[in-house]
Amino acid sequence: MTTLQEYLKASDVPGDLGKIITLISEQAAPIRSAFISNQSYAGSTNSSGEEQAEMDTWADTRITGVLRESGFVRAVASEEQDEITLMNPSAKYSVVMDPLDGSSLIKVNLCVGTIVGIYEGDVMQAGKNLKAAFYLLYGPMTTLTITLGSGVCVFAQNADNTYVLLKENVKIPEGNLYGSGGLRTEWLPKHTKYITGIEAEGGKNRYTGSFVADFHQILEYGGVYAYPPTKKSMEGKLRLVFEVNPIGFLAVQAGGAVSTGDFCTLDIMPQKVHQRTPIYVGSKGMIAKIENTR
Ligand code: AHG
Ligand code: MN
Ligand code: MN
Repeated sequence: MTTLQEYLKASDVPGDLGKIITLISEQAAPIRSAFISNQSYAGSTNSSGEEQAEMDTWADTRITGVLRESGFVRAVASEEQDEITLMNPSAKYSVVMDPLDGSSLIKVNLCVGTIVGIYEGDVMQAGKNLKAAFYLLYGPMTTLTITLGSGVCVFAQNADNTYVLLKENVKIPEGNLYGSGGLRTEWLPKHTKYITGIEAEGGKNRYTGSFVADFHQILEYGGVYAYPPTKKSMEGKLRLVFEVNPIGFLAVQAGGAVSTGDFCTLDIMPQKVHQRTPIYVGSKGMIAKIENTR
């Protein structure tokens, strides 16, 4: 069975990039074992004004610390940090991350994940420039879904903490699953029309409230995950830099697409590190459908 290390080597991934991927992947086991003693809220809020779960800050501190110590990283932008953390100015790569996505689900033992993107140079770049993107999903298995810019592979963590290849050349089938955030009463007419259309064609609703888990389902079965603009927030909820770009880049690499509802999010030049954007991500047909909804 191909291991993650063998895959990185066979892909000719540059040394430092491979080391960063390996280092973060090694944090899955300690993160998983920290869930049991970090069940509650930390009593603090992050830059987006959201209450931080203990695990948000735990995972953030852990990954940031390991990356700082490594010396391989130029800068880190994290959902849980107000500012970009500058590390080694002579290092080549920078990391963007959502250390724990879906963290409100930890205390009910549903799937959560860690989302990571890696750029050459600084962090404030359009998503299409990503050199690698991956997510760890803490489900019945711990899996790592990764792209190095040519296709998508899924690895699963073994009992000895090595990652072995589960699936390669992953392609999003057209499918008919859909999951949408935001209260229905706060959706705008375009989104309501889109979802009503999917339902009329027999689409099946799947939404857990963990973006990374909901997207992983779409990757396997096809369909769309959406967090639309709402009457309360025209920018939706998800963050362009930490969540939308890495997952969107993976979706495109799997033959799918990602959009604000009007155009590809990977072309957006971020103006602020915590900026939000509406997102539609999934199979190509589903994304074309929202872009063509008037
Ligand atoms: P995070 O835990 O990193 O703050 O992300 C939560 C996000 C995302 O995972 C999920 O899809 C969405 O928020 C759920 O929001 P709603 O509760 O509004 O559906
Ligand atoms: Mn998140
Ligand atoms: Mn988070």
